[in-house]
Amino acid sequence: MRGTSRGDVHLDEVVSAGSLRKTATGSALAPVADYLAELHTQIAEVTGGNPADYIPELGKADPSLFGIAIATIDGEVYAVGNADHAFTIQSVSKPFMYGHALEHYGRQAVLQHVGVAPTGEAFNSIVLDEAANRPFNPMVNAGAIAVAELMEGATQNERIENMLMLFSKLAGRPLEIDQAVFQSELATGHRNRAIAYMMLNTGMIRRDPNEVLDLYFRQCSVMATARDLAIMAATLANDGTNPLTHQRVFEAQYVRDVLSVMNYCGMYDYAGEWAYEVGMPAKSGVSGCIIAVIPGQIGISVFSPPIDAQGNSVRGIRVCQEISDEFQLHAFNNRTNVRSVIRRDYRADLVRSNRLRTPEERAVLAETGRKVAVLEAQGALFFGSTEQLMRRVAQLASEARYVIVDFKRVHLADVSARKLIVRAARAMAGGETELLFASMAEDGPLAALAWAFAEHENKDLVRVFRDADAAIECCEDELLAMSAATAEGTKFALSEINLFKGLNQEERRLLETIVQPLVFDKGEVIIREGADANLFFVLARGTVSVQIRVPGQGERKKRVASIGPGLSFGEMALLDGGKRSADIVADERVICYGLRVEQLQELAAEHPNIMIAILSNLTREFSERLRHANEEIGVLE
Ligand code: DON
Repeated sequence: MRGTSRGDVHLDEVVSAGSLRKTATGSALAPVADYLAELHTQIAEVTGGNPADYIPELGKADPSLFGIAIATIDGEVYAVGNADHAFTIQSVSKPFMYGHALEHYGRQAVLQHVGVAPTGEAFNSIVLDEAANRPFNPMVNAGAIAVAELMEGATQNERIENMLMLFSKLAGRPLEIDQAVFQSELATGHRNRAIAYMMLNTGMIRRDPNEVLDLYFRQCSVMATARDLAIMAATLANDGTNPLTHQRVFEAQYVRDVLSVMNYCGMYDYAGEWAYEVGMPAKSGVSGCIIAVIPGQIGISVFSPPIDAQGNSVRGIRVCQEISDEFQLHAFNNRTNVRSVIRRDYRADLVRSNRLRTPEERAVLAETGRKVAVLEAQGALFFGSTEQLMRRVAQLASEARYVIVDFKRVHLADVSARKLIVRAARAMAGGETELLFASMAEDGPLAALAWAFAEHENKDLVRVFRDADAAIECCEDELLAMSAATAEGTKFALSEINLFKGLNQEERRLLETIVQPLVFDKGEVIIREGADANLFFVLARGTVSVQIRVPGQGERKKRVASIGPGLSFGEMALLDGGKRSADIVADERVICYGLRVEQLQELAAEHPNIMIAILSNLTREFSERLRHANEEIGVLE
């Protein structure tokens, strides 16, 4: 049924670039496609307007043709009705030609040729900004003709090629000129000729007006479908990158310029009402097409030839009004919540690093851990959200010795965020509270912020850590060093090790006979996941990491804990003798005491207290870890 526009449109007529998933009941799970089908049926009833006939070839258009398409910034296209019918894009070409000129010459140079002020006049009005000696804006014919003159190329053929290449890149497929419409415009476009000659007279254009108009008429005669126009609009919504081909057509800074003029000038003498009611940067063409852009979300296009007195598609306007209302898409609807930037904050007395500590160290950290505050940021960092975040940093700084900001859940940080964060870091440098940053990978969304710090004249402005855990661990180490409770660097004797507490001298001597001192180099795997567990270890010097396989990520390992001197690992071998559940890797050169389970059991057959003491020490350790884990879960809820 595609190709007709009136009557009901059934779900199976809704064309989508992706496949529509069917629910268990058989209906299509596609709320946007569903809505568009309903909207198409509803607006197909709207009458009024006539196809433009001042260009005779356009007057031949079938007024019942009606297509709508929405393209998302990741290239999903929802299309309904005559969305694959090709028509000439007319004035919808203007914002893209303007973007191309900006891209090619830069903002200042283009502003010499055309302004950005709305005229509130018809598209073909013969008004020029005489004070600045340039047309008012690139959306009215005069401005578009001035922009057409800027198309690069040594010959007219090269300029035509470049223009067609631009539109083909925007649509993601080769586009052509409708020769009949082009000839029709060429034959009848006297008003445009008058505008071009007036501009030649005042020096607003310099080349032969007929040559400039030839390109202008051709750009208006480029043939595209509503589906193509939705992709072109989505390219603007996607900061200038075509969502289908992923080709960059415009730089984001110029997309902003293009959208600004579309917002105030795109709908000519209807622009004010449009901005008020619909609130989307848009552009109409006299063939009955309209494009509208919701930055960061979608591009919309509508095609329906009957136009009103202002040259805008009657159904096109209605469709955009409905979509804007239905989905709250007016540009000035506020959908930002700057407060949500703070995911949570907590202190290191309750949420410790994954570094396992001795009971003495744990006691110190329970006392002093409050001096470490962790602030988890999330979402997008822009002016408003970063202001909130930095305000919270300032509050925490008045109570803590360290403030760690964890950027793990931040997906974007704009220039203003970087500026505010650098200012905050500078203000805190040398003060009583240290600012630390976590999760700022140089290939992630915070890369530019990481660079800003790397390039800052004061290299020690903030310490940056792989993740929050590493930052907390470092602060803990410093707190422990201050309290002199650190176990770092010392070599433990068996009597000092928690696991062997409660053994008498004789029992310790017996134990020593079966202990094997072992040395591992940095990076060496001490325990391998899946291997038989028949040995357990006590760390005498250095640290080791516990690493587990991440499901679905192949060989990639994640460090889940680290263990320092005085602590044991691999003790599960004593309890269940099963397979190893994780890798244990030496972080540096380490010294361990290895105990073979079998030998320990033999020893314990004659000296049962050895096993009783070890097992009760283990149980105490596990119950302490469980208690702490529960506490952490409560805090991180
Ligand atoms: O300049 C003209 O007459 C046409 N080729 C383009 C006009 C146009 O689409 C105006 N927009 N509504």
